[in-house]
Amino acid sequence: METMLDKSNTTPTTGVNTVHLGMVGFGTVGTGVYKVLERHPELVFEKIAVRDTQKARQVEGLNADLITADPFEVVRDASVQVVIEVMGGVDIAKNLITEALQNGKHVITANKELIAKHGAELLALANKKNVRLLFEGAVAGGIPIIMPLKLSLAANQVEVMAGILNGTTNYILTKMSQEGWDFETALKTAQEKGFAEADPTNDVDGFDAAYKIAILSSIAFNQSVNPEDVHCEGIRSITAEDIQTADKLGYVIKLIALAKKSADSNPDIRVHPMLVSKHHPLANVENEYNALWVLGDAVGDVMFYGKGAGELPTASAVCADILAVCRGLLKGNDPIPSMTFEYQGSTPLSSIENTTNRYYIQVNTADTPGVIGNLGQACGKHGVSLDSVMQQGTHADGNACIVLLTHEVTEGEMQAALKDIEAQPTTQSIGAMIRVL
Ligand SMILES: NC(=O)c1ccc[n+]([C@@H]2O[C@H](COP(=O)([O-])OP(=O)(O)OC[C@H]3O[C@@H](n4cnc5c(N)ncnc54)[C@H](OP(=O)(O)O)[C@@H]3O)[C@@H](O)[C@H]2O)c1
Repeated sequence: METMLDKSNTTPTTGVNTVHLGMVGFGTVGTGVYKVLERHPELVFEKIAVRDTQKARQVEGLNADLITADPFEVVRDASVQVVIEVMGGVDIAKNLITEALQNGKHVITANKELIAKHGAELLALANKKNVRLLFEGAVAGGIPIIMPLKLSLAANQVEVMAGILNGTTNYILTKMSQEGWDFETALKTAQEKGFAEADPTNDVDGFDAAYKIAILSSIAFNQSVNPEDVHCEGIRSITAEDIQTADKLGYVIKLIALAKKSADSNPDIRVHPMLVSKHHPLANVENEYNALWVLGDAVGDVMFYGKGAGELPTASAVCADILAVCRGLLKGNDPIPSMTFEYQGSTPLSSIENTTNRYYIQVNTADTPGVIGNLGQACGKHGVSLDSVMQQGTHADGNACIVLLTHEVTEGEMQAALKDIEAQPTTQSIGAMIRVL
């Protein structure tokens, strides 16, 4: 029985034995959240908004009176203390969360695009209203990353973070590697198995991972990072041949979301395919699994690994945030002040030309004497020092496939060398340019 909650006042000052929830969205994640919270009779749903009120929901004993087609009813309901936004999209979700925070409600969301694009503004509003805006489910589904980065690693300067933050692309690259499939076949299988959307753009072109690394970098570096500034390349151009060649050299190819901060320059934050040594812990992250590898100045390297999406894994993260807030409310405390995010302004990012990398370059050339020397000269002219040069055989058309591995150089130097290589009369094409982690 409810004892001390005054429903007209969403901020109780003394302990209560019930917290009232509203949820916007009842799809994959919303269904998982509902199922997990069934174990918590002290948390009571007051309203749930969906697009189609007639659709059957995959839970038992749902009270149909809770369901509404108007998401604003949820954030305007005076009895609702905590709003769970698991609807997705940016514009309506932003308006809903803004209104919920204005109305003094705590908000939990799994919406990576919204938090990446508007997190700084929404977090500032939450702080002004002394309520919490939490988003553990927005990055890497069930893997606890946000709060460990903010709280457990707080004593560290984060030097590097490298993540496999998109399950769809990791599944595709794993299948290309293990089964020898081309990109299109692997994508089609991922779509049939439900790991890829009908429109896979956000995943395969790297935007989803860019939202996530922008969020993680904002927390690790305590400055808001605009996801549109994150240099982003997807995996469409990776071929089965690249994967096989990388394998022979002791590498796997992964879509890596990378963030590095140095004391004297802007943070280097980007998403693109990388060759990852088979000895690196990220190399063994396969299929739809996600991972984040963090190098902190005190702790050394740490890795977080698990399921980056799905009904119950994502609900695990969303419900952890819900429980953190609700436990505070049940005790009548200001909920979890340590979980407040306050960024110190925003930061520009290092341009891709200024980043330093090692490179894997695959060049298709005429199979004539002197070709390797010419490639070496073009690289040397621009300060690109070569670690190794290998001829990977001859194509059916008689051309040779030559693979160069460079030492660390700037992207600008590498691009200048590639222009010279492309202009050589013996060069047929540059088959691939992949950075090495
Ligand atoms: N799926 C995952 O594994 C995962 C992992 C991490 C984060 N996320 C994030 O979690 C959020 C939800 O993802 P999801 O996969 O659960 O999406 P989903 O399955 O498509 O569910 C979306 C829900 O929102 C409802 N909805 C959509 N537009 C609405 C509107 N205008 N008014 C009211 N309700 C509306 C839909 O109603 P109907 O059911 O009536 O169509 C549906 O219940 C997204 O931000 C996503 O990026 C998802």
